[in-house]
Amino acid sequence: MNSQKKKEEEQQKNYCSICDNVGFIPVVDNEGHTRYRPCKCREMLKVQKIWEQSGISVNDIDKSFANFEAWNNEIRAMKDKATSYYLQYSKIKADRCNSIMLCGNPGCGKTHLALALANNLLKNKGVPVVYMPYRDVITKIKQNMVDEEYYKKTLSKYQNAEVLLIDDLFKGKVNDTDINIMFELINHRYLNRLPMIISTEFTVDKLLSFDEAIGSRLYEMAKSYVVQIEGIKNNYRMR
Ligand SMILES: Nc1ncnc2c1ncn2[C@@H]1O[C@H](COP(=O)(O)OP(=O)(O)O)[C@@H](O)[C@H]1O
Ligand SMILES: [Mg+2]
Ligand SMILES: [Zn+2]
Repeated sequence: MNSQKKKEEEQQKNYCSICDNVGFIPVVDNEGHTRYRPCKCREMLKVQKIWEQSGISVNDIDKSFANFEAWNNEIRAMKDKATSYYLQYSKIKADRCNSIMLCGNPGCGKTHLALALANNLLKNKGVPVVYMPYRDVITKIKQNMVDEEYYKKTLSKYQNAEVLLIDDLFKGKVNDTDINIMFELINHRYLNRLPMIISTEFTVDKLLSFDEAIGSRLYEMAKSYVVQIEGIKNNYRMR
């Protein structure tokens, strides 16, 4: 397809018939003055932009609290923590403790809940959450480590996101380089009080024994919202 045609299609897709792409709708008030109110397409465009920048796959935008079953007491407690974090978010976002950490075995629903939280923050509060699948990202960073510009740019995206979702922290073999990169990332967020949503198969004790500097910072930032699920009995696929 030639670029002109592509452009036209793109424009058509983004065309708003309510406001004719002006972004505002004229409303005449009681005194006959014309006022303008923002069209809903502006809001939608904003939401669409932060979706695109979040890195959340289209397959995951349906993950919600509503479709997360509280199928046993421990799972219910984890869901309650996540929803209460969501409800408190606006109040606690600048606090020392403004993060949440979901620890537990594979299959207990950590990623689902973390994404439900992210989706709600994006959709309902317009908060630009950035999704970081730990293993993929750390591998890519290490492969491109000699490219200083890439390294700085990538790290900075995760360091400065308004909310960062780290999925499956420290999954796989962890060496000193991984620890150093993650320290650079997490310490920056710690110093600037930037919230994180963490999912990991490790308990807090295990994280501390891995690397005390990282573990203790994460704990300090999430201690009111730490959930630790243990045991195969909590695997959703085996319920
Ligand atoms: N309580 C639950 N209610 C509904 N679906 C669930 C629940 N727990 C897990 N799932 C589903 O099971 C699969 C595995 O869950 P996931 O969140 O990836 O687990 P984890 O990240 O802890 O390994 C996903 O498809 C998820 O949507
Ligand atoms: Mg997971
Ligand atoms: Zn419009």
